[in-house]
Amino acid sequence: MERPGSALVHLEGVSKSYEAPGVPLAVLNGINLTVAEGESIAIVGPSGSGKSTLLNIVGTLDTPTKGRVCFEGQDLSQFDETQLAYLRNRRMGFVFQLHHLLPQCTALENVLIPTLVTRPKDSRAEQMAYLLLERVGLKDRQNAKPASLSGGERQRVALVRALINEPSLLLADEPTGALDYSSSMGLADLLSELNHNDGVTMIVVSHSLDIARRMNRILELRDGTLRERDDLK
Ligand SMILES: Nc1ncnc2c1ncn2[C@@H]1O[C@H](COP(=O)(O)OP(=O)(O)OP(=O)(O)O)[C@@H](O)[C@H]1O
Ligand SMILES: [Mg+2]
Repeated sequence: MERPGSALVHLEGVSKSYEAPGVPLAVLNGINLTVAEGESIAIVGPSGSGKSTLLNIVGTLDTPTKGRVCFEGQDLSQFDETQLAYLRNRRMGFVFQLHHLLPQCTALENVLIPTLVTRPKDSRAEQMAYLLLERVGLKDRQNAKPASLSGGERQRVALVRALINEPSLLLADEPTGALDYSSSMGLADLLSELNHNDGVTMIVVSHSLDIARRMNRILELRDGTLRERDDLK
């Protein structure tokens, strides 16, 4: 699965098994994947096939049992926890199925959370937050708390939070899982726009082929291996 262009992410022989009672559970089995800068990738596959596991490994939230993960050509197993934390905070943006917004904070405050670690009270971060919230149609809802936002609005706040530090790589795990069709399509439009206009590289896990088809490549994870599914495009 080699592609021309400079590789942002490169996985080589990545395997992952979990210690289950009795036999170990093998989830990923020698995954090779190169994601070039500017690419958008959809990962599809049955429930339990390891899509979240794979995304978490790319996002350095989990480590492979075997194999190598490189980011911009650097082997991540050589990074210490501080370096990994910096990479996650400044270079990657995460959107999870359950958006994990803090209920006591407003939309604007939630969006600014990733900036608190490395650049607290940076007015450019706030400016960016306003611009992004406006872009996702939430300018007038910036002071609302998650409880008073709709599912689609919360998901958009979570996306803005993932983008606030201008990541090179966006990792999204079922970002439209909790949304109705029209909200999902709205979020899919936004992802395509971020990829096409802003050049954000992204890996998006989705059960929805409508979302997957918005990405440059569709990869299917099944029986621990990835395969290209151009036929689904
Ligand atoms: N921490 C863990 N310990 C043991 N087994 C785990 C752990 N995390 C995941 N698994 C198992 O690994 C397999 C893959 O899980 P994963 O969450 O990656 O699947 P998925 O493809 O994201 O599924 P879904 O589409 O339902 O979200 C599952 O069988 C799951 O039960
Ligand atoms: Mg999952």
